[in-house]
Amino acid sequence: MIGDMVRELRATINGRSVRYLEAGIGWPVVLIHAFPLNADMWRPQLERVPEGWRFIAPDLRGFGPDAAPASGSITLDDIAGDIAALLDELAVDQAVIGGLSMGGYITLALFRSAPERFTGMILADTKAQADTPEGLDGRRKMIALARAEGPVGVAQSMLPKLLGETTFERRADIPQRVRAMIESAGTEGIVGAIEAMMGRPDSTRDLARISCPTLVVVGEEDMLTPVTDAVALQNQIARSRLVILPQAGHLSNLEVPDGFALALADFLSSNL
Ligand code: MLT
Repeated sequence: MIGDMVRELRATINGRSVRYLEAGIGWPVVLIHAFPLNADMWRPQLERVPEGWRFIAPDLRGFGPDAAPASGSITLDDIAGDIAALLDELAVDQAVIGGLSMGGYITLALFRSAPERFTGMILADTKAQADTPEGLDGRRKMIALARAEGPVGVAQSMLPKLLGETTFERRADIPQRVRAMIESAGTEGIVGAIEAMMGRPDSTRDLARISCPTLVVVGEEDMLTPVTDAVALQNQIARSRLVILPQAGHLSNLEVPDGFALALADFLSSNL
Protein backbone atom coordinates (compact mmCIF):
# COMPACT_ATOMS: atom_id res chain seq x y z
CA MET A 1 0.00 0.00 0.00
CA ILE A 2 1.76 3.17 -1.21
CA GLY A 3 2.52 5.65 1.54
CA ASP A 4 1.96 3.20 4.38
CA MET A 5 3.51 4.61 7.55
CA VAL A 6 7.01 3.48 8.40
CA ARG A 7 7.47 3.02 12.16
CA GLU A 8 10.92 3.61 13.69
CA LEU A 9 11.28 1.33 16.72
CA ARG A 10 13.92 0.02 19.11
CA ALA A 11 14.52 -3.30 20.81
CA THR A 12 17.16 -4.34 23.31
CA ILE A 13 19.04 -7.46 22.28
CA ASN A 14 21.92 -8.81 24.32
CA GLY A 15 22.07 -5.50 26.21
CA ARG A 16 22.29 -3.40 23.03
CA SER A 17 19.65 -1.04 21.70
CA VAL A 18 18.84 -1.87 18.08
CA ARG A 19 16.84 0.36 15.79
CA TYR A 20 14.51 -1.31 13.35
CA LEU A 21 11.98 0.01 10.86
CA GLU A 22 8.61 -1.60 10.48
CA ALA A 23 5.58 -1.17 8.24
CA GLY A 24 2.33 -3.03 7.68
CA ILE A 25 0.46 -5.64 9.67
CA GLY A 26 0.53 -9.38 8.98
CA TRP A 27 3.02 -12.18 8.37
CA PRO A 28 6.58 -10.91 8.99
CA VAL A 29 9.12 -10.27 6.24
CA VAL A 30 12.64 -9.44 7.47
CA LEU A 31 14.79 -7.30 5.14
CA ILE A 32 18.54 -7.22 5.90
CA HIS A 33 20.54 -4.30 4.56
CA ALA A 34 23.64 -4.13 2.36
CA PHE A 35 27.15 -2.98 3.25
CA PRO A 36 27.87 -0.21 4.26
CA LEU A 37 24.31 1.13 4.46
CA ASN A 38 21.60 0.81 7.11
CA ALA A 39 17.92 -0.03 7.51
CA ASP A 40 16.91 3.22 5.78
CA MET A 41 17.83 1.62 2.44
CA TRP A 42 14.64 -0.44 2.77
CA ARG A 43 12.32 2.58 3.20
CA PRO A 44 11.08 2.40 -0.43
CA GLN A 45 9.89 -1.17 0.18
CA LEU A 46 8.43 -0.38 3.62
CA GLU A 47 6.54 2.52 2.06
CA ARG A 48 5.08 0.05 -0.44
CA VAL A 49 4.31 -2.83 1.95
CA PRO A 50 1.51 -4.97 0.52
CA GLU A 51 -1.62 -5.59 2.57
CA GLY A 52 -1.35 -8.59 4.92
CA TRP A 53 2.43 -8.31 5.46
CA ARG A 54 4.64 -6.79 8.15
CA PHE A 55 8.04 -5.67 6.87
CA ILE A 56 10.84 -5.43 9.47
CA ALA A 57 14.24 -3.89 8.59
CA PRO A 58 16.88 -3.81 11.35
CA ASP A 59 20.14 -1.87 11.51
CA LEU A 60 23.06 -4.30 11.69
CA ARG A 61 25.82 -4.01 14.30
CA GLY A 62 27.91 -0.92 13.69
CA PHE A 63 25.39 0.73 11.33
CA GLY A 64 22.50 3.18 11.69
CA PRO A 65 22.00 6.14 14.02
CA ASP A 66 22.23 4.04 17.22
CA ALA A 67 25.45 2.30 16.21
CA ALA A 68 27.63 1.78 19.25
CA PRO A 69 31.37 1.67 18.44
CA ALA A 70 32.10 -1.94 17.43
CA SER A 71 34.18 -3.88 19.91
CA GLY A 72 36.22 -6.94 18.99
CA SER A 73 35.96 -8.92 15.79
CA ILE A 74 32.64 -10.32 14.63
CA THR A 75 31.51 -12.89 12.10
CA LEU A 76 28.49 -12.95 9.82
CA ASP A 77 27.20 -15.75 12.09
CA ASP A 78 27.25 -13.26 14.99
CA ILE A 79 25.23 -10.81 12.91
CA ALA A 80 22.82 -13.59 11.90
CA GLY A 81 22.54 -14.34 15.64
CA ASP A 82 21.51 -10.71 16.21
CA ILE A 83 18.69 -11.15 13.68
CA ALA A 84 17.54 -14.33 15.43
CA ALA A 85 17.67 -12.54 18.80
CA LEU A 86 15.61 -9.66 17.41
CA LEU A 87 13.00 -12.12 16.13
CA ASP A 88 12.93 -13.79 19.57
CA GLU A 89 12.46 -10.38 21.19
CA LEU A 90 9.58 -9.63 18.80
CA ALA A 91 8.10 -13.12 19.47
CA VAL A 92 8.41 -13.95 15.77
CA ASP A 93 9.15 -17.68 15.34
CA GLN A 94 9.05 -17.80 11.57
CA ALA A 95 9.21 -15.25 8.78
CA VAL A 96 10.10 -14.65 5.18
CA ILE A 97 13.74 -13.61 5.57
CA GLY A 98 16.02 -12.01 3.04
CA GLY A 99 18.55 -9.36 2.26
CA LEU A 100 20.48 -7.54 -0.39
CA SER A 101 24.16 -8.29 -1.02
CA MET A 102 25.77 -8.54 2.46
CA GLY A 103 22.17 -8.90 3.68
CA GLY A 104 21.99 -12.00 1.45
CA TYR A 105 25.22 -13.42 2.92
CA ILE A 106 23.67 -12.96 6.40
CA THR A 107 20.43 -14.56 5.24
CA LEU A 108 22.39 -17.65 4.16
CA ALA A 109 24.29 -17.66 7.50
CA LEU A 110 20.98 -17.55 9.38
CA PHE A 111 19.61 -20.33 7.19
CA ARG A 112 22.57 -22.52 8.18
CA SER A 113 21.89 -22.07 11.90
CA ALA A 114 18.08 -21.83 11.90
CA PRO A 115 16.47 -23.16 8.69
CA GLU A 116 13.21 -23.78 10.57
CA ARG A 117 12.66 -20.03 10.90
CA PHE A 118 12.25 -19.53 7.13
CA THR A 119 8.85 -19.66 5.44
CA GLY A 120 10.34 -17.93 2.44
CA MET A 121 13.65 -16.38 1.39
CA ILE A 122 14.68 -13.30 -0.60
CA LEU A 123 18.17 -13.10 -2.11
CA ALA A 124 18.71 -9.77 -3.83
CA ASP A 125 21.90 -8.75 -5.67
CA THR A 126 23.92 -11.31 -3.78
CA LYS A 127 25.84 -14.55 -4.27
CA ALA A 128 26.67 -17.79 -2.50
CA GLN A 129 30.43 -17.83 -3.16
CA ALA A 130 33.04 -16.74 -0.62
CA ASP A 131 35.59 -14.04 -1.50
CA THR A 132 38.20 -14.85 -4.15
CA PRO A 133 41.90 -14.10 -3.42
CA GLU A 134 41.55 -10.89 -5.51
CA GLY A 135 38.39 -10.04 -3.58
CA LEU A 136 40.26 -10.47 -0.29
CA ASP A 137 42.99 -8.12 -1.56
CA GLY A 138 40.33 -5.54 -2.39
CA ARG A 139 38.87 -5.91 1.12
CA ARG A 140 42.30 -5.27 2.71
CA LYS A 141 42.63 -2.11 0.63
CA MET A 142 39.15 -1.00 1.68
CA ILE A 143 40.04 -1.51 5.36
CA ALA A 144 43.16 0.64 4.86
CA LEU A 145 41.06 3.29 3.08
CA ALA A 146 38.44 3.26 5.85
CA ARG A 147 41.13 3.72 8.50
CA ALA A 148 42.83 6.51 6.52
CA GLU A 149 39.83 8.43 5.21
CA GLY A 150 36.81 7.17 7.16
CA PRO A 151 33.33 6.65 5.67
CA VAL A 152 33.75 9.62 3.31
CA GLY A 153 36.60 7.83 1.52
CA VAL A 154 34.67 4.56 1.49
CA ALA A 155 31.63 6.27 -0.04
CA GLN A 156 33.80 7.90 -2.69
CA SER A 157 35.40 4.60 -3.63
CA MET A 158 32.26 2.41 -3.53
CA LEU A 159 29.60 4.64 -5.04
CA PRO A 160 30.56 4.08 -8.71
CA LYS A 161 30.22 0.31 -8.22
CA LEU A 162 27.04 0.30 -6.12
CA LEU A 163 24.78 1.99 -8.64
CA GLY A 164 24.00 1.24 -12.27
CA GLU A 165 24.76 3.50 -15.22
CA THR A 166 21.08 4.39 -15.69
CA THR A 167 20.92 5.71 -12.14
CA PHE A 168 23.98 7.92 -12.70
CA GLU A 169 22.46 9.22 -15.94
CA ARG A 170 18.89 9.77 -14.82
CA ARG A 171 18.39 9.65 -11.03
CA ALA A 172 20.54 12.36 -9.46
CA ASP A 173 18.96 12.02 -6.00
CA ILE A 174 19.92 8.35 -5.51
CA PRO A 175 23.76 8.73 -5.43
CA GLN A 176 23.31 11.55 -2.89
CA ARG A 177 21.07 9.43 -0.67
CA VAL A 178 23.43 6.46 -0.80
CA ARG A 179 26.44 8.67 -0.09
CA ALA A 180 24.69 10.16 2.96
CA MET A 181 23.86 6.69 4.29
CA ILE A 182 27.45 5.48 3.88
CA GLU A 183 28.87 8.64 5.43
CA SER A 184 26.66 8.15 8.49
CA ALA A 185 28.39 4.83 9.26
CA GLY A 186 31.25 4.61 11.75
CA THR A 187 34.75 3.52 10.68
CA GLU A 188 34.80 0.64 13.15
CA GLY A 189 31.41 -0.61 11.97
CA ILE A 190 32.69 -0.56 8.38
CA VAL A 191 35.93 -2.38 9.24
CA GLY A 192 34.08 -4.95 11.39
CA ALA A 193 31.65 -5.76 8.57
CA ILE A 194 34.45 -6.06 5.99
CA GLU A 195 36.34 -8.49 8.23
CA ALA A 196 33.14 -10.46 8.84
CA MET A 197 32.54 -10.74 5.07
CA MET A 198 36.16 -11.80 4.51
CA GLY A 199 35.67 -14.70 6.89
CA ARG A 200 32.39 -15.97 5.47
CA PRO A 201 32.31 -19.52 4.14
CA ASP A 202 31.17 -20.55 0.69
CA SER A 203 27.42 -21.16 0.92
CA THR A 204 27.04 -22.95 -2.42
CA ARG A 205 26.55 -26.37 -0.86
CA ASP A 206 23.75 -25.06 1.37
CA LEU A 207 21.61 -23.97 -1.58
CA ALA A 208 20.28 -27.47 -2.27
CA ARG A 209 18.89 -27.60 1.29
CA ILE A 210 16.73 -24.50 0.83
CA SER A 211 13.23 -25.87 0.43
CA CYS A 212 11.13 -22.75 1.05
CA PRO A 213 9.92 -20.54 -1.80
CA THR A 214 12.76 -18.18 -2.71
CA LEU A 215 12.85 -14.97 -4.69
CA VAL A 216 16.15 -14.17 -6.40
CA VAL A 217 16.32 -10.57 -7.64
CA VAL A 218 19.11 -8.77 -9.46
CA GLY A 219 19.59 -5.46 -11.20
CA GLU A 220 20.49 -5.97 -14.85
CA GLU A 221 23.36 -3.42 -14.46
CA ASP A 222 24.71 -4.93 -11.21
CA MET A 223 28.53 -4.95 -11.51
CA LEU A 224 29.30 -6.37 -8.05
CA THR A 225 27.03 -9.42 -8.06
CA PRO A 226 26.06 -9.68 -11.71
CA VAL A 227 23.16 -11.54 -13.30
CA THR A 228 25.32 -14.68 -13.64
CA ASP A 229 25.50 -14.94 -9.83
CA ALA A 230 21.72 -14.66 -9.58
CA VAL A 231 21.23 -17.30 -12.29
CA ALA A 232 23.55 -19.63 -10.33
CA LEU A 233 21.44 -19.12 -7.19
CA GLN A 234 18.22 -19.76 -9.04
CA ASN A 235 19.60 -22.91 -10.68
CA GLN A 236 20.53 -24.41 -7.33
CA ILE A 237 17.51 -23.46 -5.18
CA ALA A 238 14.60 -25.78 -5.94
CA ARG A 239 11.56 -23.54 -5.39
CA SER A 240 13.08 -20.30 -6.61
CA ARG A 241 12.12 -17.69 -9.14
CA LEU A 242 14.44 -15.14 -10.72
CA VAL A 243 13.52 -11.55 -11.47
CA ILE A 244 16.00 -9.40 -13.43
CA LEU A 245 15.23 -5.72 -12.96
CA PRO A 246 16.09 -3.54 -16.00
CA GLN A 247 17.87 -0.20 -15.52
CA ALA A 248 19.06 -1.10 -12.01
CA GLY A 249 22.51 -1.73 -10.59
CA HIS A 250 23.62 -3.39 -7.34
CA LEU A 251 21.26 -1.42 -5.08
CA SER A 252 18.29 -2.46 -7.18
CA ASN A 253 15.68 -1.85 -4.46
CA LEU A 254 16.69 1.83 -4.24
CA GLU A 255 17.27 2.32 -7.95
CA VAL A 256 13.97 0.89 -9.22
CA PRO A 257 11.79 0.85 -6.08
CA ASP A 258 8.53 0.24 -7.92
CA GLY A 259 9.91 -2.69 -9.92
CA PHE A 260 11.48 -4.23 -6.83
CA ALA A 261 8.31 -3.76 -4.75
CA LEU A 262 6.21 -5.31 -7.50
CA ALA A 263 8.49 -8.36 -7.74
CA LEU A 264 8.34 -8.74 -3.95
CA ALA A 265 4.56 -8.31 -3.70
CA ASP A 266 4.00 -10.74 -6.55
CA PHE A 267 6.31 -13.32 -4.95
CA LEU A 268 4.65 -12.99 -1.55
CA SER A 269 1.10 -13.19 -2.88
CA SER A 270 1.69 -16.11 -5.21
CA ASN A 271 3.98 -18.29 -3.08
CA LEU A 272 3.22 -17.77 0.57
C1 MLT B 1 27.10 -5.03 -0.30
O1 MLT B 1 26.45 -4.35 -1.12
O2 MLT B 1 26.57 -5.45 0.75
C2 MLT B 1 28.52 -5.31 -0.61
O3 MLT B 1 28.82 -4.92 -1.90
C3 MLT B 1 28.83 -6.77 -0.41
C4 MLT B 1 30.26 -7.11 -0.66
O4 MLT B 1 31.12 -6.22 -0.57
O5 MLT B 1 30.55 -8.29 -0.90
